[in-house]
Formats: sequence, C-alpha cells, structure tokens
Amino acid sequence: MSATIIGIESSCDDTSAAVVRDGLLLSNVIASQKVHEDFGGVVPELASRAHIQNILPVVSQALAKAGVDKSELDAIAFTRGPGLLGSLLVGTSFAKGLSIGLDIPIIDVNHLHGHVLAHFVRKTNDEPVPQFPYMCLLVSGGNSQIILVKGYNDMEILGQTIDDAAGEAFDKCAKVMGLPYPGGPHIDRLAATGDPSRFKFSKPHIPELDYSFSGLKTSFLYTLRDAVKEDDAFIENNLADLAASLQRTIIEILLDKLDKAVRRHPVRHLAIGGGVSANSGVRSAVSDFCKKRGITPWIPDRAFTTDNAAMVAMAGYFKYRDSQFCDLSLPPYSRVSV
Ligand code: KG4
Repeated sequence: MSATIIGIESSCDDTSAAVVRDGLLLSNVIASQKVHEDFGGVVPELASRAHIQNILPVVSQALAKAGVDKSELDAIAFTRGPGLLGSLLVGTSFAKGLSIGLDIPIIDVNHLHGHVLAHFVRKTNDEPVPQFPYMCLLVSGGNSQIILVKGYNDMEILGQTIDDAAGEAFDKCAKVMGLPYPGGPHIDRLAATGDPSRFKFSKPHIPELDYSFSGLKTSFLYTLRDAVKEDDAFIENNLADLAASLQRTIIEILLDKLDKAVRRHPVRHLAIGGGVSANSGVRSAVSDFCKKRGITPWIPDRAFTTDNAAMVAMAGYFKYRDSQFCDLSLPPYSRVSV
C-alpha cells in the first residue's frame, strides 16, 4: 500500500517535521530552541512559544525538501506524549488543524515508540534494519526503559526507572560540576581523558529489571561536597576523572539490568535509543556487551538519538499500515502511561 506520511514532533524543545513515503525517509527538518541555554534547563512556557513560531516554517520546509505537495499526504503522524504538555499541544493542535484542512486522518505516536523504531528510519530499502524480536535500551532525558520489541506495534516494557532517568543523572551531576545544560555531552567529552576508576559512587539495589538513578546523584553530590570542604578547587581540578567515573557508573547500572533482561528473554538483536545513546561510552559498552553474547547491536546515527520527526513519521507509517488512526478529540498526555 503506497502511503505518504508527515510526522510532527514537539514533545520538548525541538520542533521537527519529516516526510516518509512507503517507509523511506524523504526529509527531516529540525529547529532546535536556543532560548533555554541561559536557564540551565528547558523552560516549558518558552518552549511552547518557540514551537508556535517554528512549526509552520518547519512543516513547509519538510514538504519542500521532500518534493511533496500537501495534497499528496495520506496521513499526519504526531507525537501525542509523553513530554511537556504545552509543547505537545502545539504539535497536536497543528496536526488536527492540518487533518481537518486536508481531510486526511491523524495517527498518534508515543514518543518512546518513535525512539525504539528510529532504527527503521532509512532512505533506501537496501539499508539493514533490526529483526524482531529485539531488545531496546531506551535512555533519554526523561526515561530509561528496557523494552522487548516484538513487532512494529507490539512492545513490552520489561523495566524502567522508578525515579530519575539516565539522562537526568548526567545532567544533574553535570550541573553540580558547573557544566552548562544539557550536561550529558559535556560529561561525554570530559570522560574521554579521565580515569574512570578514580571515584566510586553508590549503585542501586532495585529488584527485577527496573532502574534507579537518584541514589547515584546523591552519592555524587556528597562526594563533591565533602571534597570541596577540603579543597575549594577540587571540582575544577578533577573534572575529567569525575566525569569518567560518573559515566562508568551509569553505564554499569544500565548494562547490569540489560544483562538480566537478555538472560530472561534471549534475543539476537539489541538496539539503543534516546539522547543518552549518543554517549561514546554507552555506545562502545553496548557494542562490547553484544559482541560477547553473539547479539547484533543497533547503534543509531547520532542525528537520530535526539528528538526528531523522522522516527515519528516512521512509527506513524507502521500504524498507518495497521489502520491505527486516532480521533480528533484525543488530547496529548505528559506522562508515560496514558
Ligand atoms: O532523548 P532526548 O534528546 O530528550 C528527551 O529526553 O526529551 O535526551 C536528552 C538527554 C539529556 O539528558 C542529555 O544530556 C542526554 O540526552 N545526552 C547525552 C549525550 N547527548 C545527549 N548524555 C550523555 N552523553 C551524550 N553524548
């Protein structure tokens, strides 16, 4: 069945639109919001306003780059949640308006499913894709989950964080170190030259396959607080070792549960996704983890680790094939479970 789908993403601080035709990506346009940099985090109200300014030009550019006229669209996929409610409302309302104007259906996409299916974003049919069932470690600023992916629209969450997400652990610890927001990429850069075994931080003892990162954050904070009492310049003199030790601990926590997951549910393919999957240490640790177990790793291009509409359009395409449309009355949702 031939289908041309536009995807719209506005869950946090990136406004993005992408066009997919028959499962192949034609365009992907992202407007990142710089307005939050001075605030040390995303300011929801500013994010919503920036989405309103960006959405029309971003959608127009995505269509133009794809060489697709809006009359050729068969459906509109949009991120319905989870995310910031005000931001989601912009994309959701835009999708609904476009749907009414063009008289075509809308498809609601769970942002996290988008990240999981990002590995299917491709420009030609020759590019390889994961085989079902595969395990996905989804690590972003708001979520850390282990998901068993049985089909495009059939996923089981095996475990997830009970408090902070892995990205939050990176960002909050980076903030204490005086690094700019988001801190994850800065930790990554600094860790490359640091000694990962220099500092020991506490690790959680959470049952089953769930994660917890708030204890690590506290342990990191106390280590720094005690050290700074002795030496004012402790943080700036030890940035690289602190970053490397923090990164090692986060990776160990992530892989410990992943190991349990693949023992319980043996799979031949394993993917990672979400902003933290851009981390060099996470990428190489997951590759090694898979190599040791004879599993094929799927490490996304860095461009598809952060929020983008290509993955939303692709997830929408798979729902379109199963005729999974949604009603115009559906509201966005901010949290993981609806
Ligand atoms: O998936 P994502 O773009 O957004 C949401 O969760 O909405 O993830 C953002 C997270 C932030 O916490 C950021 O610090 C983290 O991904 N991140 C990284 C790296 N790049 C982005 N963390 C560690 N190393 C990186 N290279």
